[in-house]
Amino acid sequence: MKRLTEFDLSGLEDPSFSRAVIDWQRRHGRHALPWQNTRDAYRIWLSEIMLQQTQVAAVLGYYARFLERFPTVQALAEAPIEDVMAHWSGLGYYTRARNLHACARRVVAEYGGVFPSDPALLADLPGIGRSTAAAISAFSSGTRAAILDGNVKRVFARVFGIGEYPGIKPVEDALWRRADALLPREEGIESYTQGLMDLGATLCTRSKPDCGRCPLQDRCVAHATGRTAELPVRKPKKATPEKRARMLVVIDRGQVLLEQRPATGIWGGLLSLPEVDGHVPLDEAEALDIDAAAEAAGRFGEVEETGSLLPLQHVFTHYKLHIHPYRVALTSRGESLDGYVWWDLARIEEAALPAPIKKLLGQLGQPSLFG
Ligand code: ADE
Ligand code: SF4
Repeated sequence: MKRLTEFDLSGLEDPSFSRAVIDWQRRHGRHALPWQNTRDAYRIWLSEIMLQQTQVAAVLGYYARFLERFPTVQALAEAPIEDVMAHWSGLGYYTRARNLHACARRVVAEYGGVFPSDPALLADLPGIGRSTAAAISAFSSGTRAAILDGNVKRVFARVFGIGEYPGIKPVEDALWRRADALLPREEGIESYTQGLMDLGATLCTRSKPDCGRCPLQDRCVAHATGRTAELPVRKPKKATPEKRARMLVVIDRGQVLLEQRPATGIWGGLLSLPEVDGHVPLDEAEALDIDAAAEAAGRFGEVEETGSLLPLQHVFTHYKLHIHPYRVALTSRGESLDGYVWWDLARIEEAALPAPIKKLLGQLGQPSLFG
């Protein structure tokens, strides 16, 4: 029996896939880009690094000027880094330029100025990942190696209907196995590699893929099921953290007790309700604690009665706050405390309060509010 291993490509192979991509590239792909029609690894490497996070149109001018100033890998290796940065200036992602310079020096020092053709050796050099290494070796020496950049991930996710976010390791690993399995067996690795790039950049674009012209249309799951807008699955948003806070609505003779908040932090400088110190459990039922509220209210006077009000939610940029308000009636006020004011409920609109607190206090007296 055949053992299933991580490297088993059975079931994923399909020679008609690369055939379709190669035939399309030869007829309809891009053939006159300045880094094409050469086997010069230096020129190919430079283009692949520039194209990593930048579109072709933005790269063209930089590519020409860069090659004029640094025509060979030796010239680049000998140049001061400031000179390299100056020729990269405006292209963005400047780590690429630093890595480029470091890579040139290593190619000169370790390989006599000749880029290795083995993708594994290329991928060991600064700034060259697995996909870039495969592209460089395919274009410069016809080596059969798989690329998987962002564009190719999008094409694969749509064609094969991959319903999981491609940025996580197991999904990415599965995509690499597919990429390996789909490589052309005999000839045409250059056209195939360029074809996948051209498809992703010109037809199978992020927002409006031109499926009518696509050579993969008849095998594309996303097209067949009307899911080109949903695939690839977007990065899942992290769940918003939640916090709970207990707040006191201490009412006495038509006035409510407000606390001045610190100048910085949430609701900085505003007035708000006094908070009950201490941790509040995340579970809603456990969060209910009238005794804790009554005890905390004790510093403001003699407590007559404490009752819970309905919790409310407020969403901040980084978390969601559940506010558990407690209504406290006093029999007598204590001494006035620094940082607290008694505010007429009739004038509550004028208080510098956060919106949800102002809303809560505005609704006081409506019986539906009591939990
Ligand atoms: N993007 C990355 N590599 C490319 C290439 N060789 N041609 C066009 N676009 C690309
Ligand atoms: Fe992309 Fe449409 Fe082609 Fe599918 S058919 S690969 S969605 S362009």
